[in-house]
Amino acid sequence: MKILIPGSFDPPTNGHIDVINRCSKIFTEIIVGVVVNPSKDSLFTRTERSEMLDKIFNEKQNIKIESFEGLLVDFASKHNVDAIVKGLRAMTDFDYEFQMAQANFTLASYETIFIPSSPEYGYLSSSMVKEIHSYGGDVSSLVPPEVLKSLNND
Ligand code: PNS
Repeated sequence: MKILIPGSFDPPTNGHIDVINRCSKIFTEIIVGVVVNPSKDSLFTRTERSEMLDKIFNEKQNIKIESFEGLLVDFASKHNVDAIVKGLRAMTDFDYEFQMAQANFTLASYETIFIPSSPEYGYLSSSMVKEIHSYGGDVSSLVPPEVLKSLNND
């Protein structure tokens, strides 16, 4: 089964990496879709976010990184995926994700499969990483080394 894991990944966190790695053991083929949202300011460009993910999953044959603009269902159909997979951290994610899943099903009959985040990453988000880092806090346990390097401009 070929699946799509979409997200902003601005930047990718250990929580994202954990969900993608766990999915790669369940599904045969994974497309990681890096969204380009012109109305949202991002810390990293489309290319930077894709390059970080490329480096992180370099060794994994069944994980491919792509970026997209526009509707998720159009991108899903272009890549001929069987379903969309989303990680859920807590019930606070649920309302929004449930609404998106129903919209994507209504638009193009795409099923969304939810996978719970591992307990140690339940609180973790890209925004939190950016905030801690912007105040000089240590985020080395929250992101992979490739992302830490980019955050520190190394
Ligand atoms: O990591 P994020 O920011 O929570 O990811 C959000 C994402 C990429 C899943 C969402 O913004 C998205 O699907 N964007 C594409 C535009 C779209 O299809 N919108 C309608 C969905 S109901």
